[in-house]
Amino acid sequence: MSSGVEDWLTDSNEALSLQLIRSEEDAEVLADDEVQAIEPFHPDFTYPIFGDKEKIFGYRGLEIKLHFASGSLKQFLAVTYDEKIKSEDTPADDIEGTLYNFIPADYTKSEVAFDAIVDADAKTFHPLGEKIGSYTRSAVGSGKGKGKANGEGGSAPSEDDENAVVYEMYKTTWSTPGFRDFHRRMQVFILLFIEGGSYVQEDEDAWEFVTLFERRKRPDSDIFTYHFVGYTSLYPFWCFPDRIRLRLSQFVILPPFQHQGHGSHLYSAVFAHMRSRDDVAELTVEDPAEAFEDLRDRNDLRFLVQQGITEDPKFLEGVGAEERGPRAKWEAEKRKEHKIAERQFDRVLEMLLLRQLD
Ligand code: ACO
Repeated sequence: MSSGVEDWLTDSNEALSLQLIRSEEDAEVLADDEVQAIEPFHPDFTYPIFGDKEKIFGYRGLEIKLHFASGSLKQFLAVTYDEKIKSEDTPADDIEGTLYNFIPADYTKSEVAFDAIVDADAKTFHPLGEKIGSYTRSAVGSGKGKGKANGEGGSAPSEDDENAVVYEMYKTTWSTPGFRDFHRRMQVFILLFIEGGSYVQEDEDAWEFVTLFERRKRPDSDIFTYHFVGYTSLYPFWCFPDRIRLRLSQFVILPPFQHQGHGSHLYSAVFAHMRSRDDVAELTVEDPAEAFEDLRDRNDLRFLVQQGITEDPKFLEGVGAEERGPRAKWEAEKRKEHKIAERQFDRVLEMLLLRQLD
């Protein structure tokens, strides 16, 4: 009999299976290119939960199902395996006990209870907080667009269109009623998808959040259902003399919704929102991952071009001149006007100059 330790090790990223669950009725209306929204997916990282090696000891055929009601993110947990090691010296890892430290205690292990939660949620769940923006894509079958969230390749349908799938963004703080509980269910995605991500301190009052949801009208009913797509968290720092610098700290779009333009929409909405606020001097980003930096560059570039910066008579004035003064003054003015952080503004401006000079 082989009893090597290796035989009892499971990769925790593979063992943990995540899924966003919609009611049967709501799942049925999804078109072929939309069903990924309800298919299982795996985390990118589990080391904050199961340790640096991302291994779980003591099981064969291990599967950990962590399911979320697609709107409220209420959770269902099931740990199943073919075999568990029987050894007093080297007992199997306590999976549920470990996860318990990272998810709120009110998850259910009963499929029946979870189904009832999903069904009830479908009729009653509404995102918390203040709506700060929305965009549309058409449901496949409505004959409009190509089902792309960025509306490319056809005009996006109106939000009043019955078939339109609308994406809505909501701003919340800790004082938004019910948000603390919602956040405790949502924050696990930070550990699972952001490298080096950690939970925010609930006793730091100033956190701001923007959540993103898909909204659909149920056929033959007046009910709108909401399904979680992603979110971002922001922290305000004092900025001399009397304003704040908003630092974007965490940003995640769940894998079933990635590469469809949602990240760009969420970032642009947050950017537009902070630009509209007199109290905010600029938006900065904490330790951005490469994919996020890319997204930020593309959106900041598009934004500055839309704002006409390349048409500005001073755009090329003084570039490469020995005396930096006048050029630096214009750059500083533009940067302040657009509320982009200094290093980011310099980078994006350089990209625009290179493009122009090419
Ligand atoms: N069809 C196909 N592709 C598209 C479409 C579309 N309609 N729209 C955009 N894309 C492409 C973009 O061109 C882009 O391509 P690229 O990666 O080759 O440049 C790519 O999809 C991503 O753009 P978006 O769709 O706008 O971004 P997405 O919604 O996938 O979000 C993000 C990107 C946030 C990085 C996401 O992948 C994610 O959450 N990853 C895991 C967590 C993470 O790393 N977060 C950032 C950490 S940094 C921080 O928190 C400060």
